[in-house]
Amino acid sequence: MANLIIYYSRSGENYVDGKVRSLVKGNSEICAEILCRHFGGDLFRIETEKEYPSNYIECIEVAKREKNEGARPTLKKYLDDISGYDNVFVVGPCWWGTFPCAVFTQLEKLDFTGKKVLVVMTHEGSGLGDTVEDVKKACPGAELVEGFAVHGAEAAESEFPLHNWVVSVLGK
Ligand SMILES: Cc1cc2nc3c(=O)[nH]c(=O)nc-3n(C[C@H](O)[C@H](O)[C@H](O)COP(=O)(O)O)c2cc1C
Repeated sequence: MANLIIYYSRSGENYVDGKVRSLVKGNSEICAEILCRHFGGDLFRIETEKEYPSNYIECIEVAKREKNEGARPTLKKYLDDISGYDNVFVVGPCWWGTFPCAVFTQLEKLDFTGKKVLVVMTHEGSGLGDTVEDVKKACPGAELVEGFAVHGAEAAESEFPLHNWVVSVLGK
């Protein structure tokens, strides 16, 4: 079974355990790499042409405006063919209750017919919210399995929980 891991992650200032801290590597990137190490597959990083502010407060304002406008930010590069994959992991942070708009820019360009889609979200308290439903709308034809939420501050310790979740939903 071929796996594709699509992820978005932002280093720089973020909200971690009640404080603003600067992250060298984003939490979702850590989870995407864990999945790749445990289950194999290709990693695709979503990167926006216009970078988000590194400053946390500025970033949440930009993200709020984009969410309210239903923005689809332009990406540096796009995936356009996922026909060779069976399972597609979509990994990213919770931004105002769902994935950043840039994740939907990419998802909406792909044909998910017959693909199994596994949502992994890192967050600071909100959990998955309606993200699996939002991804389902963006990926017609996909089979969405139960998603998985990782507390961002514990991303580096999420090896076993992530592994066990994948085994439970894919039966590996
Ligand atoms: C713009 C923005 C909005 C956020 N909104 C939420 C939120 O609604 N709920 C939540 O639990 N965490 C929220 N967070 C915290 C992130 O989801 C969390 O720190 C995540 O692990 C960051 O992942 P990353 O390092 O891969 O980007 C937000 C962070 C940012 C920068």
